[in-house]
Amino acid sequence: MLGSTRIKTEIPGPRSRELMERRKGAVSAALAAPLPIFASEAKGALLTDVDGNTFIDFTGGIGCINVGHADPRVVERVRAQAERMTHTCFGVVPYEPYVELAEKLNELVPGSSEKRSAFFNSGAEAVENAVKISRSYTGRNGVLAFENAFHGRTLLAMTLTSKIDPYKKNFGPFAPEVYRVPAPYPYRCPAQKDCSNGCRGNCLDLLTRGFVGTFDPENLAAIIVEPVSGEGGFIPFPDFYLRKLRELCDEYGIVLIADEVQTGFGRTGKMFAIEHAGVEPDIVTTAKSMASGLPLGGVTGKKEIMDAVHQGGLGTTYGGNPLACAASLAVLETFEKEDLLGRAERLGERVQGAMRDLQAKYPDTLGDVRGIGPMAAMEVVTDRESREPDKALMARIVENALGEGLLLITAGQFSNVIRTLMPLVIEDDELDEGFAILDRAIAAATS
Ligand SMILES: Cc1ncc(COP(=O)(O)O)c(C=O)c1O
Repeated sequence: MLGSTRIKTEIPGPRSRELMERRKGAVSAALAAPLPIFASEAKGALLTDVDGNTFIDFTGGIGCINVGHADPRVVERVRAQAERMTHTCFGVVPYEPYVELAEKLNELVPGSSEKRSAFFNSGAEAVENAVKISRSYTGRNGVLAFENAFHGRTLLAMTLTSKIDPYKKNFGPFAPEVYRVPAPYPYRCPAQKDCSNGCRGNCLDLLTRGFVGTFDPENLAAIIVEPVSGEGGFIPFPDFYLRKLRELCDEYGIVLIADEVQTGFGRTGKMFAIEHAGVEPDIVTTAKSMASGLPLGGVTGKKEIMDAVHQGGLGTTYGGNPLACAASLAVLETFEKEDLLGRAERLGERVQGAMRDLQAKYPDTLGDVRGIGPMAAMEVVTDRESREPDKALMARIVENALGEGLLLITAGQFSNVIRTLMPLVIEDDELDEGFAILDRAIAAATS
């Protein structure tokens, strides 16, 4: 088999090292730098660095490239749009691609209710606006979020996020009226129950107990949930838990926000992850793969909720920029024409199968394998019994994989989770090669 990777230099190569020095002299040291290479170009599931080394990309720029790098439809539609017009501000002179995208998302977001959409620049902005809309609609101010949640880094989104280092440390005071309850995490059950035969939702009690001691459900504007926690370590919420959230929201008049920024656009084998549970949320937030990495965040929700805000109450200069909308329309066309959901489902089986094989080979190191479809993860631990997270070992695995041509990123409260966010269009031989590299990376890191 002809390998997809081409490692021609030591990693990082000389040009990447040179750019890293320039970066140090020019760019804030506060920005993360998990991989020491610099990108030059990318196509499909392969990324080439400035030294001519080609890597298999299991990161997709943190889940933004589900249709593949440089998808021809995205490239062509963005180019054509750029030639016509790059910006007018939708709030000043509107344009068709924005409306067309809203129409399409209103159709795609689950549930039969009439929908409306609004666009912003990022996932965090989508979350901020979803909360503003919920508050305006309900006239309440509380928001309930979960442990392991990640909703972004702006003030309110950061407050909703549930990891101190690096996201919240030194950045207080946080936004008021945000409450938090434990999230289902069968491998590390917050109710300290044995979930080895499947989560039975013991932690649901912790939520309803909060109604008594911590927050008034009748003052909650919204409950925000990632159907599969993303940065938190790819931990799926069980279907029955999401259905229970729907029931509670109906009972108390709370807006249910599904944050699908990372889970959306086929990542779990369906267009939106919440579809697996058969739940209709009131609002869905989107970003990332929606526009194949161009800055775009979306809020799509029930008409009466989305229209409750006074006119002019929502908006931003660039939100729903024509280039980003054009990219997103191309993404949706590619999903349809290339049957990407079908591909995602098959990919999910292969990815989870490969992870289980690795777990059988390294039972002490790979404590848990979980996920839905190709949104899958393995938890790296010191040993099977203690389940102690092993962040240092995880870092060695990432470094070894990089040296052999595989890009990986981590996740989880303890930064010890290997997650897969490869483009859904990855070829079978690229996937096999990626997992073969991962196998060697684990072997070398544990020997
Ligand atoms: C579920 C979820 N919500 C919100 C965000 C924030 O998106 P952005 O980085 O575009 O602000 C992310 C980013 O990883 C995410 O995974």
